[in-house]
Amino acid sequence: MTYIQPIKELLDSVSAPFNHASAMPPSVYTSEEFLQREVSEIFAKEWICLGRASKLANPGDYLTYELAGQPIFVMRDRDGQLRAMSNVCLHRMSTLLEGTGNKRTIVCPYHAWTYSLDGTLRGAPAMTLNEGFCKDSYRLPQIRCEEWLGWIMVTLNERIPPACERLADVHRLIEDYDMKDYVEAFHETHIWDTNWKILAENFMESYHLPVCHAGTIGGLSKLEEMICPPGHATFNYHTILKDDGLPIAHAHPDNTRMKGDRRRTTFLLSIYPSLLITLTPGYFWYLSLHPRGVRQVHITFGGGLSPDFANTTEAETHFAQVKELLDEVNVEDRGCTEKVYRGACAGLAKPGHLSHLERPNYDFAQYLAEKIGGFSRTFQL
Ligand code: FES
Ligand SMILES: [Fe+2]
Repeated sequence: MTYIQPIKELLDSVSAPFNHASAMPPSVYTSEEFLQREVSEIFAKEWICLGRASKLANPGDYLTYELAGQPIFVMRDRDGQLRAMSNVCLHRMSTLLEGTGNKRTIVCPYHAWTYSLDGTLRGAPAMTLNEGFCKDSYRLPQIRCEEWLGWIMVTLNERIPPACERLADVHRLIEDYDMKDYVEAFHETHIWDTNWKILAENFMESYHLPVCHAGTIGGLSKLEEMICPPGHATFNYHTILKDDGLPIAHAHPDNTRMKGDRRRTTFLLSIYPSLLITLTPGYFWYLSLHPRGVRQVHITFGGGLSPDFANTTEAETHFAQVKELLDEVNVEDRGCTEKVYRGACAGLAKPGHLSHLERPNYDFAQYLAEKIGGFSRTFQL
């Protein structure tokens, strides 16, 4: 492994114990070389979330994505199975599908080679005179894809354990929420002008809530009611207790699974590298991030309700209010995270010490240092 300067600076930074820790050095946000390592060592090797599986409900429903520089698509096949494949034609390598939609077959927009929903080549015009051509030997390269608790997870890594194994600790932590059954009410994609890690880290701490979100949710969160435990190998989290202000943040009266304070506990889960979920007993929302160069982030954003709330009109009204609020909160987060990126680019930028409420940020920095710089993490049992 060659240690470029930003990696050296990161390794230096994460070696401090938490009670002396500082924020990550600015170079990790601005260096093109560091980004290349993130793409090859993290985004090409980890499980990456492309949103909720329910958005591809019917055979032929698809979405396209650029995963670590590879155009891919995910499609529900005729047997109801989700499949991820290379989105590159096997003839002269045009990309095949655009955006999202539904197809009965996949027809290349260049010379109309036509593929079935499982990626096998069904037909190719005017190819009978090439004696070397055999239709049956063509199939779009398949990419690993799993549905994990209702999430579409994909990876380019042949060797990584299944998502359900790798993320088993996340599941154990929030088992009584039954996240798999949460019903998505909206999903959108956005591009913001900031480094992907700045947005991920913004999600990981609620320290900024009273200030950055003074105009919206800032007043609802008490810093002393936030719990920020040390992170795990594949994720970190913190929790907030919600007061009575928003009924859908609490367990539904019909929900008898959840007990005591769990009924009003919000989990903020950061599943490495970039799936960020706010999970309450009544509703959820999430961001899944992918870098677009050092200075832009592609965001898959969505949310919805737990099943006991999903079919009640009253809850829908509440959720519509939450969505409205989320949109305003996003505008505030966008302002804060774009400012941090501008700041990180400054010659005089220097990281300061972290608050105890930024424990997840410290753990995330160590995760990055492990993946990119071979740092060895230790965990408390
Ligand atoms: S590139 Fe796809 S059919 Fe020619
Ligand atoms: Fe925020």
